[in-house]
Amino acid sequence: MKITVVGAGAVGASCAEYIAIKNFASEVVLLDIKEGFAEGKAMDLMQTATLNGFDTKITGVTNDYRATAGSDICVITSGIPRKPGMTREELIGINAGIVQNVSAALIEQSPETILVVVSNPMDTMTYLAHKVTGLPKNRIIGMGGALDSARFKYRLAEALDAPSSDIDGMVIGGHSDTGMIPLTRLATRSSVPVSEFLSTERLDEVREATKVGGATLTKLLGTSAWYAPGAAVSTLVQSIACDQKKMMPCSALLSGEYGLDDICIGVPVILGRNGIEKIVELDLDEKERTHLAESAEGVRKTNDLLA
Ligand code: 2OP
Repeated sequence: MKITVVGAGAVGASCAEYIAIKNFASEVVLLDIKEGFAEGKAMDLMQTATLNGFDTKITGVTNDYRATAGSDICVITSGIPRKPGMTREELIGINAGIVQNVSAALIEQSPETILVVVSNPMDTMTYLAHKVTGLPKNRIIGMGGALDSARFKYRLAEALDAPSSDIDGMVIGGHSDTGMIPLTRLATRSSVPVSEFLSTERLDEVREATKVGGATLTKLLGTSAWYAPGAAVSTLVQSIACDQKKMMPCSALLSGEYGLDDICIGVPVILGRNGIEKIVELDLDEKERTHLAESAEGVRKTNDLLA
């Protein structure tokens, strides 16, 4: 199993690190445009192999896509991250050109690959990758919902003063401060709805804290987060690589599901060796359906900026 990660910045390097530590891939290629940078990150990571007990071979390369040839899965993290006060949508000007070139270069070397898009604005970049490559819809996956859901579960565990392992929950919709839809109605603590334990006001606070999860970290760190994004990517990639068929929200190209068409947005999917093996249609209530339609409008406005 060969996995390429494009972009050796904080998010890309964390992806490579978590993939290696989970020890399911034979090879990870880290590629960056900055001379020597990916090589350095790869060497540093490889020097943790005996300490962390993994056998994955990580190699770094400066902008030479030939080294990525034959990758089973390619992760695109390249582009600029947001600075405090910025929205993800504001990154489109620079990141669209980068994602366009990177997707085309990856597919040229690995025509059978599955693409995982992390660059922001993520839903629009996933849509762009579809337009550029024309790959079947199961083979391009946007990573946002898995990360947002992890942040939602963190906030729920905090509000409930519960261990993380007790919590289940999911965020659908666009990967943006206004577009995320934390599904509090379906969230549980050990199979019991969280609404049994938390007031409506407390659940509203959890929802709001989840939606600005990335922005909160960007303000604290001065740039966007990397540990949780890297861990979310590795979980998603492992489900594909090991054919685990995990269900998690990802940005998928919809053709009528949830009443939406020609848009990539976060919905629950089953991830296996064929990428998105199924889009799961939840029975949303009216309020959730309205939120999803509004979230889709937001994503479409950003998609329109591609034209
Ligand atoms: C985040 O929310 C990088 O968009 C990513 O942290």
